[in-house]
Amino acid sequence: PQSLMLSGKTAIVTSGPTHEPIDPVRYIANRSSGRQGHAIAAALSRLGAKVTLVSGPVTIADPAGVTTIHIERAEEMRDAVLAALPADIAVMVAAVADWRVASSADQKIKKQAGAAPAPLELTENPDILKTVGHHPNRPRLVVGFAAETQNVEENGRAKLERKGADLIVANDVSPETGIMGGSRNTVRLITTSGSEVWPEMDKDAVAMKLAHWIAERVEKP
Ligand code: C5P
Repeated sequence: PQSLMLSGKTAIVTSGPTHEPIDPVRYIANRSSGRQGHAIAAALSRLGAKVTLVSGPVTIADPAGVTTIHIERAEEMRDAVLAALPADIAVMVAAVADWRVASSADQKIKKQAGAAPAPLELTENPDILKTVGHHPNRPRLVVGFAAETQNVEENGRAKLERKGADLIVANDVSPETGIMGGSRNTVRLITTSGSEVWPEMDKDAVAMKLAHWIAERVEKP
């Protein structure tokens, strides 16, 4: 039946931000809520897929029927994603921190009276989407997201190529759109064969429409 288009298929979804520790009590993070990624995990599951959700720290509930793995750092997210391979579908929605602190402190960094703060040395995090997109066990369908504040189409298309994805779901996260942290989303789907814009809708509706889009493409033998 239409409702179980993805039965027998497996999917990995990443969602939420990552937290990159500075010391035991401080971290670098971003404003991702996990709402879109969690909704996609739930939607794929509703279509019958066996879903592993790898989630950064969020305040929303684990979706019902989905195996949820909680991590904090990008490196932990990468490890959990690779451990979940092979899979038929990967949808990387997490807002992974681009950088982490090169060597986070084991003890709380103390303020030194009158002294300037120690500078934070940053190093690049692994790109999980790119790793999955070029992996020997690459899922049949690899989907990435692109949160942009300008040149959405152009940046999305460059990302599709660079990361080895089949689809980039791009959105404009400029503060005035209210998308980041909000409940609604306006997305543009970018593939090698073209681009289409979906009207503004709830993140749950984006998730369901995307799950159907995915199902139509992985179903075919
Ligand atoms: O390069 P950028 O972060 O804009 O790419 C966004 C896409 O790449 C998203 O799908 C995001 O989940 C994924 N990504 C990732 N690992 C990173 C950075 C981004 O999986 N380190």
